[in-house]
Amino acid sequence: TVQHSSNVKTLPERFTSSGFILAAIGSAVGLGNMWKFPYITGKYGGAAFFLLFIGCLLFVGLPILLAEMAIGRGGRGNAVTSFQSLSKSKYWGAFGFLSVVGAFAILSFYAVVAGWTIHYAIESLTGGLYASSDFKSTFLTFAGGYLPVLWQAVTMVITGWVVAKGISGGIEKFNKVLIPGLAIILIILMVRALTLDNAAAGVEFFLKPDFSKLTAESALIALGHAFFSLSLGMGTMLTYGAYVERQQSLGKASLAIGGGDLLYALVAGLIIFPTAFSFGIEPSQGAGLVFMALPAAFAAMPLGQFFGFLFFILLAIAALTSAVSLLEVPVAYAMTKWNWNRKKAAFYTSVICFLIGVPSALSMGPLADFAPGGKTYFDWFDFVASNILLPIGGLLVTLFTGYAWKRAGEEAGLSGFWYNAWMFLLRYVAPLLVIAIFFYTVGIIKF
Ligand code: PHE
Repeated sequence: TVQHSSNVKTLPERFTSSGFILAAIGSAVGLGNMWKFPYITGKYGGAAFFLLFIGCLLFVGLPILLAEMAIGRGGRGNAVTSFQSLSKSKYWGAFGFLSVVGAFAILSFYAVVAGWTIHYAIESLTGGLYASSDFKSTFLTFAGGYLPVLWQAVTMVITGWVVAKGISGGIEKFNKVLIPGLAIILIILMVRALTLDNAAAGVEFFLKPDFSKLTAESALIALGHAFFSLSLGMGTMLTYGAYVERQQSLGKASLAIGGGDLLYALVAGLIIFPTAFSFGIEPSQGAGLVFMALPAAFAAMPLGQFFGFLFFILLAIAALTSAVSLLEVPVAYAMTKWNWNRKKAAFYTSVICFLIGVPSALSMGPLADFAPGGKTYFDWFDFVASNILLPIGGLLVTLFTGYAWKRAGEEAGLSGFWYNAWMFLLRYVAPLLVIAIFFYTVGIIKF
């Protein structure tokens, strides 16, 4: 009822328009771009995979990104109440709650990996990282001990502190400094990587498509990654959208965010593949590529300690600006739901998220044997959040915008051809593809 929606507390803070774009790029650009994208590209078909990823960003990612931001700005609430006030129905909100849980779950283990990158940055700078040339056991010894808990805590303290400072005084300022900083570091590292011996072989692998390597599996991985990389399905873009000024164009914002995400992924690839090829490192080594293989390259290049430091600081910054956006989801929830002030909400959500993540931080060591169904605690959080909650969240956004919310076009600023194209993608293309990834990753469809 109308009365119900007017009782919902709205979120009063606002981003400036450039502040919003930078914060949203900060959310999108993260470990997904710098850590996951290179190794899945290496594994699932190099340049052909990259092209597929671009297609997924354009035809599925951008329409959903626009829809999420429109829902947030239209509803001016959290990932639950925005759905409720736009549809005047409780049921959509109940699904929205899954994305609040999902953001929390992702952050709990994302902060662990972010913590590894901070540790690696410091170890590279001091030279400790290069004390032994067996980088695999260096990593396994570190990740297998208790130290990751400390770095996870550091990550959560920084994240909680930035969020506690608010939208303009915290999140916006943090991203305004770090996102341009990230671009500078990326350019330095890219120039370094492209001038290494044999760099061309890495560039060729990354940018010369060989379509025979593509499989249905690569397509689904590309699609899932487009979701993760644009921070979709977890209520983050929706929550950030709630702080956007009325007059800002969300269509242009989606293009800027999608373009930014793609550009950072492209440059990350132009750093990692030339470096790997130049030092004879196999690019398809999987998740260990960055922590267990690349240090060998830094050990061997002149000024490698410094370049290694820059590389891991790059990862840490990318991860922190994403972590901040993830924490904002439960913080916005707590502020509207229980009327908590921002500081209190940021404090409690960070502490709880830290505690939930501690077993993830210990999953490669003390808790490695606790692995029901062959997955550690870390793997379970990753699996459930990235492969179950995230697609459900994405599906919710497409169905809600495509079928339930009649005034979506107005909020998104689309009409005529673009509106029709957007609706076609949201109503038919995106839901079918999301359902396909879902069944594939939970193992019902097997290739
Ligand atoms: N987009 C971030 C990355 O690429 C991860 C993320 C996912 C952040 C979902 C927020 C929500 O690393």
